[in-house]
Amino acid sequence: MAKLLVLTILGVGLALFRDHRSSYQTRMAAFREIKPVELPNCKLVKGIEAGSEDLEILRNGLAFISSGLKYPQIKSFEPNEPGKILLMDLNEEELTVLVLKINGSNFDLFSFNPHGISTFTDEDNTVYLLVVNHPYLKSTVELFKFQEEEKSLLHLKTIKHQLLPNVNDIVAVGPEHFYATNDHYFVDPYLRSWEIYLGLAWSNVVYYSPNEVRVVADGFDFANGINVSPDGKYVYVAELLAHKIHVYEKHANWTLTPLKSLDFDTLVDNISVDPVTGDLWIGCHPNGMKIFSYDPENPPGSEVLRIQNILTEEPKVTVVYAENGTVLQGSSVASVYKGKLLTGTVFHKALYCKL
Ligand SMILES: *[C@@H]1O[C@H](CO)[C@@H](O)[C@H](O)[C@H]1NC(C)=O
Ligand SMILES: *[C@@H]1O[C@H](CO)[C@@H](O)[C@H](O)[C@H]1NC(C)=O
Ligand SMILES: *[C@@H]1O[C@H](CO)[C@@H](O)[C@H](O)[C@H]1NC(C)=O
Ligand SMILES: *[C@@H]1O[C@H](CO)[C@@H](O)[C@H](O)[C@H]1NC(C)=O
Repeated sequence: MAKLLVLTILGVGLALFRDHRSSYQTRMAAFREIKPVELPNCKLVKGIEAGSEDLEILRNGLAFISSGLKYPQIKSFEPNEPGKILLMDLNEEELTVLVLKINGSNFDLFSFNPHGISTFTDEDNTVYLLVVNHPYLKSTVELFKFQEEEKSLLHLKTIKHQLLPNVNDIVAVGPEHFYATNDHYFVDPYLRSWEIYLGLAWSNVVYYSPNEVRVVADGFDFANGINVSPDGKYVYVAELLAHKIHVYEKHANWTLTPLKSLDFDTLVDNISVDPVTGDLWIGCHPNGMKIFSYDPENPPGSEVLRIQNILTEEPKVTVVYAENGTVLQGSSVASVYKGKLLTGTVFHKALYCKL
């Protein structure tokens, strides 16, 4: 009943928001055609068929990949399988994908629904993996310790907070300290679609630590990927539907001040930062309509951008890879290791290319 009422009210609103249609189409890049940009030596990664939603590569070449996201309006090829964290060693010639075991007495594996991930390596070389989780469409951040010998993740803690109602991505700045993007306030697929349709710009960036949690940036039209510069001085935020990458200065008290924004003609999703060069690698959706309403006959394509010298007056932006979905559908993240590019997707495969 409540839903019906909302529906009616929004229906009346529709007349008022007719102008939104054209802005909606712009925000979704609905008519964008993809000009293919090929890379000569690419291979699909065997064993990744149902998503490689987010990935992070350690400096030693081990890559963590979250797979199997179930999310309103987003396609899943394995709707009944719990999500997984995969591990690959990028130093190997033939890549093999291993499913990491999860060890933790209180952790519910059945409802594991991993989304954005981030790692933090402390002085003793202990690697912590932080994973955004949506068990039963709620939102938590799970803290794991990576046990390399056992190839397992030891679950340490589940983090929840009222300022983290619907987390999308995180970047760890300590084992229990991170910045998070909140997508939107509605998990309800119906209300969420309205938020996206109207461009309410309700998403934000939250800093979390055990002692302090606060909103540090606000008013995004779907804040998505987030990352930090190698020197830890800058935070980068991808604003998906405004097609922008924002650069913030990060202060000792963890607050952020906006420094600059870059505009694109594609939906910018995850940001990876090359630890050596500081370049940003962005997984993008050239046409957002195709991501939000999946049609196998007309699938979403893929696009990878590299941004060099982002802090200078003239950052250099290169389209490194672009493809219409015949090979790779819905690229959401791209990261480099020793001259190779690993591109992940929201619900499809993963592609590994020599640059
Ligand atoms: C989980 O990890 C702990 C600590 O490393 C270990 O003692 C325990 O045997 C493990 N349990 C399982 C079920 O693997
Ligand atoms: C990666 O891409 C997904 C798919 O859209 C996004 O929702 C998620 O938050 C992203 N994660 C990172 C690291 O940005
Ligand atoms: C945090 O630090 C910045 C830079 O020093 C300062 O401008 C700002 O007022 C501080 N904010 C808070 C809430 O302490
Ligand atoms: C996508 O690109 C491939 C290779 O360039 C081409 O063969 C195919 O016809 C294209 N498909 C669509 C739907 O444009």
